Amino acid sequence: MFRPKSIAVIGASKTPGKIGYEIMDNIITYGFKGELYPINLKETEILGRKVYKSILDVPGEVDFVILSIPAKYIPATFEECGKKGVKSAAIITSGFGEVGDHEAEQKLVEIAVKYNMPFIGPNIFGMVYTPANLNASFGPADVKPGKVAFITQSGALGIALMGWTITNKIGLSSIISIGNKALIGESELMEGFLKDDPNSAAILLYVEGLRDGKNSMRVFKEVGLKKPIIALKSGRSERGAAAAASHTGSLAGSDKIYSAAFKQSGVLRALDAAEAFDWARCITNNPRPKGDNSIIITNGGGVGVMATDACEDEGLELYNDQKKLHDTFMKPEIMPPFGSTKNPIDITGGGGEMAYKLALEEAYKMKEIDSIIVLYCQTATTNPDLLADYIIEIVDKYDQKKPFVFSGIGGEAVEVMIDKLNEHDISAYDLPEKAISSLGALYRWNNFVEKEKKLGKSKPLKLPLNKIQALIDDVRADGRIQMLEHESKEIWKLIGLDVPDFALVQTPEEAVKAAEKIGYPVVMKIVSEDIIHKSDAGGVVVGPKNKEEVKAAFEKIMVNAKAYKADANIRGIFVTYMVPKGTELIVGVSRDPTFGPVIMFGLGGIYVEILKDVVFRMTPVSKDEARTMVDSIKTKALLYGARGEEPRDIDGIVDTIYKISQLVDQVPDIQELDINPLFSFPDSTKAVDARITLIEKK
Ligand code: ACO
Repeated sequence: MFRPKSIAVIGASKTPGKIGYEIMDNIITYGFKGELYPINLKETEILGRKVYKSILDVPGEVDFVILSIPAKYIPATFEECGKKGVKSAAIITSGFGEVGDHEAEQKLVEIAVKYNMPFIGPNIFGMVYTPANLNASFGPADVKPGKVAFITQSGALGIALMGWTITNKIGLSSIISIGNKALIGESELMEGFLKDDPNSAAILLYVEGLRDGKNSMRVFKEVGLKKPIIALKSGRSERGAAAAASHTGSLAGSDKIYSAAFKQSGVLRALDAAEAFDWARCITNNPRPKGDNSIIITNGGGVGVMATDACEDEGLELYNDQKKLHDTFMKPEIMPPFGSTKNPIDITGGGGEMAYKLALEEAYKMKEIDSIIVLYCQTATTNPDLLADYIIEIVDKYDQKKPFVFSGIGGEAVEVMIDKLNEHDISAYDLPEKAISSLGALYRWNNFVEKEKKLGKSKPLKLPLNKIQALIDDVRADGRIQMLEHESKEIWKLIGLDVPDFALVQTPEEAVKAAEKIGYPVVMKIVSEDIIHKSDAGGVVVGPKNKEEVKAAFEKIMVNAKAYKADANIRGIFVTYMVPKGTELIVGVSRDPTFGPVIMFGLGGIYVEILKDVVFRMTPVSKDEARTMVDSIKTKALLYGARGEEPRDIDGIVDTIYKISQLVDQVPDIQELDINPLFSFPDSTKAVDARITLIEKK
């Protein structure tokens, strides 16, 4: 598909404006060198090429076929392609899964598998691969060759963005419209081709939804180690997500989950198309940074401050050895005595292009500096065109060894300058925030690669799966999917969580015996699947602290429970140690239709409802990832010891998240679970509650 020697266009047309004409025209105009066979039932010649009535009539081999005929003719014609031995296809035609005809779409997959004939589509605008001079699309003809691979699920938006990249001088290696993704989606394209394509340095992905989120994450992680993936995902708002689900018929999981999944697999999520391409431009032009020190060179104090703020937002560090900076940059040929070397290096408004050139060269030469940001406000003392030439000269001289971004603010001459730099693959933007956000994206990707390399592959934790399954089977045998507290807590114990001692008792005497063993005070609760709201039923007594109180509590709970629901199936009374109140946390898991089990961690109790200070990850999470979860909540200061309080048991919290994630990953029977609250103390972390729901089996 990417390097065909021969192409057939089924549905080629002589009529300009028709899709079958425009695709033919683009293939020819963009300089495809191989054989091109138009297929049309009634014409003899289209755009100077001999026409065939059927793919079966084509004399030679066909590597790639583009189908642009009405949907009802597609299956039979596609089958003919298979018989012909066509190697790959793009099915442009709409009217399949996206309008509910999944059966017809499935038929295409069957044909493709039968003849080993992979295809993109249906419902696409085609594809472009610039290194092969191939534009097999009905988008714009003059795509600028470059290093960004662009995969798009949306057709119209994809075409629009193609045009936009041309105007904005963004070079593309490929544009692949994947539409309904019947057989080939983003993961297959990345894994099967783009990952190892030397012509693609970054992958930009527009998606509305992923089908198999877990597999996508695996692919993203693997590919992301070699080249960055930038994702634009629509459906951020709830209404947007609903629209996306009906638009391409894919399941757009909750957007928060997508954000977490992207982050976890190293994908850089951009908020809009402009940002995505800004980032792609910077990442493909620049090497990975060798360290964290950045420098800003500017002729304006104001933009310098704006850029400094933006650096802080992005977590970019400005090099701060004031003596070294002063010794290097305080030279009459670079700045007047009232300039500033504090970083931003302010050569001041009078600084001309030569001052920029010298300052830039110094920044390249300084081994302590890892990346360079140049800001320019248009002044009459500079010639923007000459400044561009100097920048190109110096960046080339140092062979783009350090990440470099430029921002120029001004009129038309600055716009021309920005274009000129971009034409030379030097990342130039209008606003400093864009330049810095792009450099920030490069750093984020770099950090992901560094982190992954260090971590290596983590092995699954060994769990007593047979015992866990036996407990689950007992609950199922009982006709339930909701595990009772003592059952859930048994599982907590089996995976090694710290659970306060507990027992299930049937008589007041047993209750006393248990309490004596557990230690006072205790909490006692009714255990019955028929009494969900135990407190409302008078089924909970908190704090009995001796034999008499335990006995009395037992009687009281039983009387209350029977009064509340006479026919309730009472399984006994749960007695547990009454843990003093710790910092209330929550660990929960639910199953997302796209990504599978999603683990949530945050501050528990009322905070979950009010602050919603929770973070999500797809399971399984490593211990390191669990630690980043703890470190990502806004209120983490409460855990690390705010206002003189002792820090909580962070290792215990991390361990709990890790073990729960391993549990749900290894036990597919669990639908969802909660530890709410999980109490954290300075020296321990205790699961004082437990709720597990099993998957409903039909
Ligand atoms: N074999 C060979 N030629 C055939 C066959 C066949 N079995 N059937 C039809 N043709 C010829 C036709 O005669 C016609 O040629 P002509 O112009 O010389 O008469 C040509 O193939 C096309 O057939 P038409 O019946 O004219 O169909 P038309 O071009 O109107 O529509 C199309 C076909 C474009 C595939 C349409 O069905 C379709 O799906 N359009 C939507 C495409 C789309 O939007 N893709 C999605 C993403 S892009 C985005 O959203 C912007």
